[in-house]
Amino acid sequence: MNVDGTKFRTIWLSKDGWAVEIIDQTRLPFEFVIVRLETSDHAATAIRDMWVRGAPLIGATAAYGVALAMRDDPSDENLGRAADTLMETRPTAVNLRWAVDVMKALLMPLSPNARAKAAYIRAAEICDEDVAICSSIGDHGMPLIHRAWEACGKPDWVNVLTHCNAGWLATVDWGTALAPIYKAHDAGIPVHVWVDETRPRNQGASLTAWELGKHGVAHTVIVDNVGGHLMQHGLVDLCITGTDRTTAAGDVCNKIGTYLKALAAHDNGVPFYVGLPSPTIDWTIEDGVADVPIEQRDATEVTQMTGRSASGEVVTVDIAPEHSHAANYAFDVTPARLVSGLITERGVSPASKDGLAALYPELAKKV
Ligand code: MRU
Repeated sequence: MNVDGTKFRTIWLSKDGWAVEIIDQTRLPFEFVIVRLETSDHAATAIRDMWVRGAPLIGATAAYGVALAMRDDPSDENLGRAADTLMETRPTAVNLRWAVDVMKALLMPLSPNARAKAAYIRAAEICDEDVAICSSIGDHGMPLIHRAWEACGKPDWVNVLTHCNAGWLATVDWGTALAPIYKAHDAGIPVHVWVDETRPRNQGASLTAWELGKHGVAHTVIVDNVGGHLMQHGLVDLCITGTDRTTAAGDVCNKIGTYLKALAAHDNGVPFYVGLPSPTIDWTIEDGVADVPIEQRDATEVTQMTGRSASGEVVTVDIAPEHSHAANYAFDVTPARLVSGLITERGVSPASKDGLAALYPELAKKV
């Protein structure tokens, strides 16, 4: 997507042909900083500390992390060590496991001296595939927004609510939840987005608002508890979120708070869709509440907030008493029954085992 007239992806190979460059998302929206990753451990840190985040981008970064490891030392031992280190960075987004498994399956049978080249080629393919997948999600999701616009009776706008950041910053390009919004906007549909701020890390306020603004999409940042009220008053025509792991039965695990939005949408008859790239499907599990590992992060993300002061300095401040305990659950699970449909690269599927299996027979069959 464009940043002030320059086309960017979120991850790319440096001009030297081996280092990997990313946008440090912890610095947005106040600073646009590019960081160079030179080792596999560096890639692991970028994922763990959320310089990059969002399920598809985590997967892409892990793939390049394996490539960087193979450049350093293509032995079996180093491949295993790098894969394990990358896998431990974040537990919920299944794209991480998917990408590491894809890389290991490719590299293990190769002789060590062939591994680095093959790894870089496959990591680049994973990135290109993600762009194509997300673009297709946009194509399949855009008609949902068009229909919601026709149905809502408001010629001047259609209101979409989203949670967290499932835009191009969360993927290699386009985004998942935001891809249909970008395509709708580009096609002239007057789309306005309610952006949940998404405490504790504020991916909505700092990332979604930033990227929608750069693309010229009308949006309003709201605190996380506003969505239900807006829905009761007919001010949300459609919800679209992303997902970090969707089970074979269509349960959706996404950023904490997504479940409450789905409940409010269900209660108010508002359609609730999820942008779902196929690498985000975990075919090995069905019951999301029981079986998706939920990341718990440092309590300081809850007890502190970071922002820009009036003097222009980026500062972190405490917002809770010094000795209060805080819990930081990063994701929750929305049961399939609350999901109106899954917008995949192959079309919109019911959130069900049969729906997903019909779209991906070759993947569903394997497990
Ligand atoms: O903790 P994050 O910022 O990595 O969480 C991201 C999300 O929850 C996104 O909605 C999800 O990864 C979908 S990305 C297209």
